[in-house]
Amino acid sequence: MGENGKKGTFYITTPIYYPSDNLHIGHAYCSTAADSMARFKKLTGYDTYFLTGTDEHGQKIERKARDKGVTPQAYVDHIVEGIKGLWKLMDIEYDDFIRTTDDRHVKCVQKLFKQLYDQGDIYKSEYEGWYCTPCESFWTELQLKDGCCPDCGRPVEKTREESYFFRMSKYQDWLIQYIEEHPDFIQPSSRTNEMMNNFLKPGLEDLCVSRTSIRWGIPVTFDEKHTVYVWLDALSNYISALGYGTDHDELYRKYWPADVHLVGKEIVRFHTIIWPIMLHALGLPLPRQVFGHGWLVLDGKKMGKSVGNVVDPVVLCERYSSDAVRYFLMREMPFGSDGEFNLKAMLTRINSDLANDLGNLVSRTVAMIEKYFGGAINVMDGVDESVDRALWELAEQTPAQVEKQVNAFQFAAALQEIWKLIDACNKYIDATQPWVLGKDEGRRARLGTVLYTLAECVRRVAVMISFVMPRTPERIFEQLGVTDEALKTWDSICAPFGALPMDTKVCKGPALFPRLDITKELERDQPKAEAEAPKEAAKEAPKPRKEEKAKKHEAPEFPAEIAFDDFCKCKMQVARVLACEKVEKSNKLLKFRLSFGKDGERTILSGIAKYYQPEELVGKQVVAITNLAPRKIAGIESQGMILSAVDDADNLRLMSVGEGVEDGAIVG
Ligand code: ME8
Ligand code: MG
Repeated sequence: MGENGKKGTFYITTPIYYPSDNLHIGHAYCSTAADSMARFKKLTGYDTYFLTGTDEHGQKIERKARDKGVTPQAYVDHIVEGIKGLWKLMDIEYDDFIRTTDDRHVKCVQKLFKQLYDQGDIYKSEYEGWYCTPCESFWTELQLKDGCCPDCGRPVEKTREESYFFRMSKYQDWLIQYIEEHPDFIQPSSRTNEMMNNFLKPGLEDLCVSRTSIRWGIPVTFDEKHTVYVWLDALSNYISALGYGTDHDELYRKYWPADVHLVGKEIVRFHTIIWPIMLHALGLPLPRQVFGHGWLVLDGKKMGKSVGNVVDPVVLCERYSSDAVRYFLMREMPFGSDGEFNLKAMLTRINSDLANDLGNLVSRTVAMIEKYFGGAINVMDGVDESVDRALWELAEQTPAQVEKQVNAFQFAAALQEIWKLIDACNKYIDATQPWVLGKDEGRRARLGTVLYTLAECVRRVAVMISFVMPRTPERIFEQLGVTDEALKTWDSICAPFGALPMDTKVCKGPALFPRLDITKELERDQPKAEAEAPKEAAKEAPKPRKEEKAKKHEAPEFPAEIAFDDFCKCKMQVARVLACEKVEKSNKLLKFRLSFGKDGERTILSGIAKYYQPEELVGKQVVAITNLAPRKIAGIESQGMILSAVDDADNLRLMSVGEGVEDGAIVG
């Protein structure tokens, strides 16, 4: 523990983004990961500093501004506002936002450039090569692919001009040795070999660090016709933001070296070759780690403004909430590898993990405490049953598992650990059957234990998810009645199970994540053109939802009349819902366990999941046909049919006979 009881400092950065007016979900991925890590470190007691920003110089910006008839500065100012707006929407809570046009950054770069020049690491020469304007990259003749940019495949321009060069070659052997001695420096470690074999071992060329043809850049102080070129400008942001080289360098002294630079895999090269050499030449310590994450791809291609397959994070957050989008990004893709962005996969996860697993657990727990204890548990009988002990132990072990995974940037695995606990809670409800306990006055204390166990687990879950989903925990705490800030801390869940006071007053709130109609959501994004499409298209691809709906709501073909005896063959009975749950991997089905009084119990499946939350049906009476031949649906035998009515507007209600009739009573 350091000063203020903190465990130490933790400095994390994202890359500085190129100003673009349509940042896509791929950029959001990088920022969400950095933000999640920063939040986790804060939560677990580190003095954390999280830096992001924008990389605003270069020919591309200069040209775009000219096309728009504005100054480059006005052009970037406008875009940066939009980027900050996106981060706000996504709850990206950075400590500082550095812009390479900030005076503090400009001064810092000029100073570094001069120092490197004065000590002989930068020298003047002439540059000849090929330049790809969209990528802002120089390429040697050998690097070109079919005469075009090897990165984007577009044509390149021949350039020849006076330039300053940074003597990278001089430090090559030192860097090879450094990387070999610091196996954690480049992560995931597979990227180490890539850097060594593709770039370092073949030999480093000196790096062009100034241009005379680009005006929109930081002027070289001692040779004003030059501006500082790309990487020396961009990479310096990580220390210029901390006040390095000024009289106010407290942040630099406190937080440097960075604990981790989080970057996309295509810029690992610059961060693990140019940046360490620059720092070393300046006599500064190196960042502890550069972590290269994979790309979010769409149809197998890296999402990018130039590729034109951008998915808009603003739209996604506004529709589904930033917590849900953040959850999906961190849960779906193993960090470090590429991952396909798929809207359907996201919607499915929202329904299954958030609406169902988490949302239902919270609402069932709170609803049952309200129903059986009027909102506050007032009696408990201790934990003697092994089901309780198993769950308590799991809840106590989970935080350490989560911490281990997050520290290795394994966000998906960390969330899986949390969901193991959520699943265990849901299974515990099935095993302990609180609704049965609730009928027995003599088992009230047992019921208290069961519901308390659930409430305390839910509190722990709320604390643990907060680094990825910063808004949801407060909504859970509100329903649980947790107001004491000490019960929202990481420390409070590392303590033994049972910190939640027993008589905490719960209060049921709205569903955390309302269930989405996936078909409808996917249809929303069909391009307009398709809706107005020619008839052939309609013939080839009939709109599935309309069809399905039509079929469903179409009155079945009834015979004009049937014999009275035929009607009497149908056995309809009143039943009470003992338990009700979603059928795994199905969006439609609910599985009911029904009591027919003296006629016993049976299991019946019904395709009404989009109309009801399972827990709201528990305890209700319904009507079911009980002499239908059993059918296997989704691998489960359904022993009858539950009756309901549905109208053209898709309103569905379960049939009931009103209270006052015994379970099992015959309907007819
Ligand atoms: O590279 N999936 O800026 P940038 C995942 N200014 N990550 C993605 C992505 C995708 N589809 N598309 C972009 C730059 N990113 C420089 C950095 S740092 C000193 C200078 C990530 O706006 C990308 O990998 O092109 C990178 O880490 C970040 O967004 C910024 O990309
Ligand atoms: Mg890029």
